[in-house]
Amino acid sequence: MSKPAVRVAVTGAAGQIGYALLFRIASGEMLGKDQPVILQLLEIPDEKAQNALKGVMMELDDCAFPLLEGMTAHSDPKEAFKDAQIALLVGSRPRGPGMERADLLQINAKIFIEQGKALNEVADRNVKVLVVGNPANTNAYIAMKSAPDLPAKNFTAMLRLDHNRALTQLAQKSGKAVKDIRDFAVWGNHSPTMYPDYRFATVNGESLKDLINDEEWNKNEFIPKVGKRGAAIIEARGLSSAASAANAAIDHIRDWVLGSNGQWVTMGVPSDGSYGIPEGIMYGVPVICENGEYKRVEGLEIDETSRAYMDKTLNELLEERDGVADLLK
Ligand code: NAI
Repeated sequence: MSKPAVRVAVTGAAGQIGYALLFRIASGEMLGKDQPVILQLLEIPDEKAQNALKGVMMELDDCAFPLLEGMTAHSDPKEAFKDAQIALLVGSRPRGPGMERADLLQINAKIFIEQGKALNEVADRNVKVLVVGNPANTNAYIAMKSAPDLPAKNFTAMLRLDHNRALTQLAQKSGKAVKDIRDFAVWGNHSPTMYPDYRFATVNGESLKDLINDEEWNKNEFIPKVGKRGAAIIEARGLSSAASAANAAIDHIRDWVLGSNGQWVTMGVPSDGSYGIPEGIMYGVPVICENGEYKRVEGLEIDETSRAYMDKTLNELLEERDGVADLLK
């Protein structure tokens, strides 16, 4: 007998990432090849967006995915999130010409307050939420704060793309395979201030840092390159990362639900106060996932250089938090 379908809500479903994401969810890449799904798709009420969403749904129909048990289109988050067990919050307002970062923060804050409240009201009580839409960490923080009846730990922000980007850079530099690199993570905000940290990483039991043995590369190439990778993609493609972002979202939810097999992965999660990160701040940390839960990797030593990187990205998140504090009162 087949399992009951899982309800997966996706916002911004007619966007670039949505287009790269939905087909993979429906094919079973996110929740498993034996797990039926129902897609509950949210777009803005605008006619063009709703039409585009219909087109995407027609294409999903045309794939005849055996695991896709149903799908619905919505413009109201309270309908899209009804009984959702997984919610991928991808849609957000991009930065327009002349728009300041602060304006962007405010506009998106309103979206994520509304969506947080809707999740609070109608989603499954154990809904797992991943915020992809930027500024992802602060949007996740806002949604979490707007959903007081749901467990705070169920709100997460996507740093997996940064994690994956860094893994490939490390593999290329060391000449080792991506699959053999373990115990790597990215700390902080999904922004150029993030801190990719390979001090603890190993390859077949050997220290990756010792293998690479190039601190100049770490400081002057690796860390800035991972931080600015999003901008480099925009420059090359004329559009922001979409397939790799969708891939990272799949990785994030798959590992959270099905486990990371003892491997460290990076998730933006509400801080428990450890590592000097104030409680509640949505901060990228190394976690291991098991039985549908993530668990922070604890007790890692933070040296002075790492502290400085971690504080820089933290300060940016604190500023973002303060920038939306009024709206959350
Ligand atoms: P896009 O502009 O192609 O699509 C976004 C879609 O969201 C649009 O169809 C839009 O109509 C919809 N939307 C906007 N506001 C909405 C709302 N309130 N409710 C429902 N839908 C809404 O953008 P793309 O390329 O798909 O990127 C989506 C977001 O993901 C952007 O904020 C982008 O910056 C972010 N992103 C995050 C990454 C990460 O690593 N965390 C990586 C790459 C992108």
